[in-house]
Amino acid sequence: MQKKINKNSKIFLAGHNGLVGSAIYRKLKFDGYKNVVVKTKKELDLRDQKRVFLFFKKKKFHAVINAAATVGGIHANNKYKADFIYNNISIQSNIIHASYLNNVEHMIFLGSSCVYPKNSKQPIKEKYLLSGELEKTNEPYAIAKIAGIKMCESYNSQYGTNYKCLMPTNTYGPNDNYDLLTSHFYPALIRKVHEAKINKKKNITIWGNGKSYRELIYVDDLADACIYFLKKKTKHSLINIGSNEERRIIDYAKFVIKKVGVKIKIKLDKKKPNGTFRKKLDTNLANKYGWKAKISLDQGFDKVYRSFLSNS
Ligand SMILES: NC(=O)c1ccc[n+]([C@@H]2O[C@H](COP(=O)([O-])OP(=O)(O)OC[C@H]3O[C@@H](n4cnc5c(N)ncnc54)[C@H](OP(=O)(O)O)[C@@H]3O)[C@@H](O)[C@H]2O)c1
Repeated sequence: MQKKINKNSKIFLAGHNGLVGSAIYRKLKFDGYKNVVVKTKKELDLRDQKRVFLFFKKKKFHAVINAAATVGGIHANNKYKADFIYNNISIQSNIIHASYLNNVEHMIFLGSSCVYPKNSKQPIKEKYLLSGELEKTNEPYAIAKIAGIKMCESYNSQYGTNYKCLMPTNTYGPNDNYDLLTSHFYPALIRKVHEAKINKKKNITIWGNGKSYRELIYVDDLADACIYFLKKKTKHSLINIGSNEERRIIDYAKFVIKKVGVKIKIKLDKKKPNGTFRKKLDTNLANKYGWKAKISLDQGFDKVYRSFLSNS
């Protein structure tokens, strides 16, 4: 019988400085969780199995949220393939196995919508995992994340643990990566439009033909889902987290231009890759368990742009 999580439960939040981890940290603090343990990469490199195992043995956590990973957009995924597969497999294997060895009862493992096949039926249901070929540009990252899902499922089946895998769609919010080469498309778009405004430029260039569809979720909604499902008893361990906010990349560009209030043209760099054409998640399962995203694209933009301006 597993002990329920309460406000005094000892929780290890891995990756608390990142986009997703920092939102989860804010939410845990706001909700009154008193015993949340965090470590920067400098303090504890989660790829170091020996140190991770010692850390877990000493701390005796009740629950773990793993938001630590090597993450990036299409360019970073394509260029640093070895880092993406090695770092992610190491981090997640160490955390999952150390959790099992030290009787951690509840875990959230974060994956991504790119674990699903490139030409998947839409909207993508959890059961479509491994039903077709992956997108080549992020295959090593997706393979690492699929290994994490299969590890959680296997430990649940063999050892009776309650390790859940949440598959979020593209996420944005404060503490995102705005580097134009390694970031995801949406923070890059916000930066390009903002800089065009400041530098009085007449146009921005976006990668690919702009016709690919993307679904976006504001990071506070994802943080809410992580804590909701950490506590929730579910039959399923693989659960999609989406928002139903889906548009073509070109339409996001028009949206951001309108919100920032500039008159600029959009140029397309068709030599750059388009990525997967569409990856709309089916979120019926999460909805059936009582969870739904609440923050609209409009509200999310206002929040993220405020935080972008205060840091630029
Ligand atoms: N961003 C998205 O659009 C998106 C979408 C779907 C799913 N996700 C998932 O959400 C999770 C978090 O993503 P994110 O966007 O928040 O990433 P992020 O902003 O890059 O943050 C990653 C965090 O991981 C930590 N980290 C990386 N390598 C580490 C290591 N070797 N040892 C210890 N800590 C390490 C970093 O710590 P330091 O700050 O100390 O370096 C950082 O806090 C990932 O699993 C990702 O797959 C993200």
